[in-house]
Parts: sequence; C-alpha cells; structure tokens
Amino acid sequence: MANKAYPVPVFSAASERNKDPILKVLVDAFRDCREVLEIGSGTGQHAVHFARNMPYLNWQPTELAENIPDLMERIAREGPSNLRPPIALDVRQHPSPAERVDGVFSANTLHIMDWESVDHFFQGIGQVLNAGGVLCVYGPFRYAGRFTTESNAAFDLDLKARDPASGIRDFEAVNELAEKQGLTLLADHAMPANNQALVWKRIGA
Ligand SMILES: C[S@@+](CC[C@H](N)C(=O)[O-])C[C@H]1O[C@@H](n2cnc3c(N)ncnc32)[C@H](O)[C@@H]1O
Repeated sequence: MANKAYPVPVFSAASERNKDPILKVLVDAFRDCREVLEIGSGTGQHAVHFARNMPYLNWQPTELAENIPDLMERIAREGPSNLRPPIALDVRQHPSPAERVDGVFSANTLHIMDWESVDHFFQGIGQVLNAGGVLCVYGPFRYAGRFTTESNAAFDLDLKARDPASGIRDFEAVNELAEKQGLTLLADHAMPANNQALVWKRIGA
C-alpha cells in the first residue's frame, strides 16, 4: 500500500523538546562518524541543531520531494556550514540517491510509513551505510506485542485513523529487518515522552 502523504508542519514543538535528549545519544553514537545521512528531516529543526552541535561531521538532510522547499528555506536561513543542502529521498526509491555514509539518523518516520516502506528504509541503509557505520532511529515502539504506555496505544489509534497503513512498529520486527542488513543492536535508550532511541552498528561488510 502507498504511503499517505504526511503533512510536515513548518515548526515542530516536539522537535524543540526532544532535540537535546536526542543530541546526547547522537554525540556518543556518532563519535567516529564524519558523514551522516538523515532520512525524513521534516522541518529541519533536528538537522540544524545536530549539525551545529557536532561541527566535526557533515549532516545530509533529506525529505520527500514535495517537502524539500520548506526544508531548504530553514537550512539556508539557519544552517551552519557542515549542514548540506537537502536532497529528495523517498525510501522506496532504489538505488538510494544518497552518497555512502558512516552514520544514518531518522526520527519519527517508521510509524508514519507503511510496513513495505519500512522494509525499503532498511534496504536503502544496506546500500549506503559503510561497514562499521551506525544507525540511530528515534520514535515510539512496541515490545512483545505491547505498547509501552496507554498514551502510545492512543497515539497508535490516532495514526491509524489518519492512515490505516501507519502505526507504531514492533521492535522485534524492525530489529529483524535491521539484522538482514548486517546491523547489530548496540543500545536501546528510553527517551522522554515514551520514545526510544535505537542504535545499531553495521559490523560486517
Ligand atoms: C512525523 S514526520 C517526522 C519528521 C522529523 N524527522 C521529526 O522528527 O520531526 C515523518 C516524516 O517521514 C517522512 N516520510 C514519510 N514517508 C517517507 C518515505 N517513503 N521516504 C522518506 N521519508 C518519508 C515524511 O515526509 C515526514 O517528514
């Protein structure tokens, strides 16, 4: 099933709240990375904040083509020099338009895409992430078929009311897709507002 277009706001209050807790995870996870790809950059608030606070790496934001103009505007206005202009990237497109990188970040995307796209997301990472590279995915997850909180269960219902193909993903199923691409889970950080930051490393070639 195709993804239902997700309307990206111009400003996200949630991104302002979660950007510092996520940065803390990324500073450690991406300590050996120099080229990082972000999938589904949305408003670009994360990209600006992370590029500013990790000046030793280059950050490549991406979005679906229709969301590029607004993202481009924020990045041109606020971005430091290590934040690259955004490129159009739909995870369903192969080969991935991204260059090879040693880090990939994505926030709040897997529960917006349909499941087939989640599979494409990991296939794309298999194409662009170097051996030894790190993937960090931020967002809500279910474990052993259960929501971590009542509010996540309610959020899942809201998501499905908008698009029945979307919804909070099972950690185990996502981890299986990651393992198929040679990724090994390094850490699962509990984050504010019932979210997780999952960190994988690509051990093999
Ligand atoms: C909830 S927003 C999250 C945006 C931002 N990362 C954040 O945390 O605020 C979900 C994002 O996923 C993107 N997205 C949905 N389907 C996609 C696909 N097939 N390929 C790439 N990005 C996709 C949307 O365009 C949107 O920006």
